[in-house]
Amino acid sequence: MRSAAVAADFRDFPRTPVLSREAADVRHITRGRLHADQVQARLSWLCESYRGAFLELAGEACDEKVTPARDDRYGVVLNVQRGTRMRFECHIDSNPLTGLLFCTDHVNGGELVFAHDAAAASVADVERDCSVVRPSAGHLIFFDARRYPHYVRPLTHESDMRVVAVMNYYTESCPESTRPPELNRHLYGDA
Ligand SMILES: [Fe+2]
Repeated sequence: MRSAAVAADFRDFPRTPVLSREAADVRHITRGRLHADQVQARLSWLCESYRGAFLELAGEACDEKVTPARDDRYGVVLNVQRGTRMRFECHIDSNPLTGLLFCTDHVNGGELVFAHDAAAASVADVERDCSVVRPSAGHLIFFDARRYPHYVRPLTHESDMRVVAVMNYYTESCPESTRPPELNRHLYGDA
């Protein structure tokens, strides 16, 4: 997992349309992403679990029937942070159920932070009143974060690397067809 993660695409990512909850002056966020095609090539077991064992567990976490994404570009990706200058964008989700498989342990830094206030519109707003999830390798969590902004804090050690597998799931009441088209245009240049 670590060796796959170092091959991630590390750069400044522009803020996400529609879903970003960053302060107005934040133009980009520096982070790493192992894209879905790279995950498929390097971590095929993860793609199989996404549609197999993890899908079953997702179903237990949700009242509705859960389905994986049909579009392979955003089913499973890795988010990777290296050093102390990367973090993950403050945003809300468009999909109704997200699964995270934490792949690294962190005592300080790299926490996933959820705002209690749905109107939070910056990292500072989120930090004012929040719940914090500390990454623990092997832990798999599921949540619906369509309403509550969330982000990932930077790491505290320059030599540290944080890896998490992010899995998008859908339901009958919020199917894949509701995914904002702006998002695919932004990420993949869809027409
Ligand atoms: Fe999210």
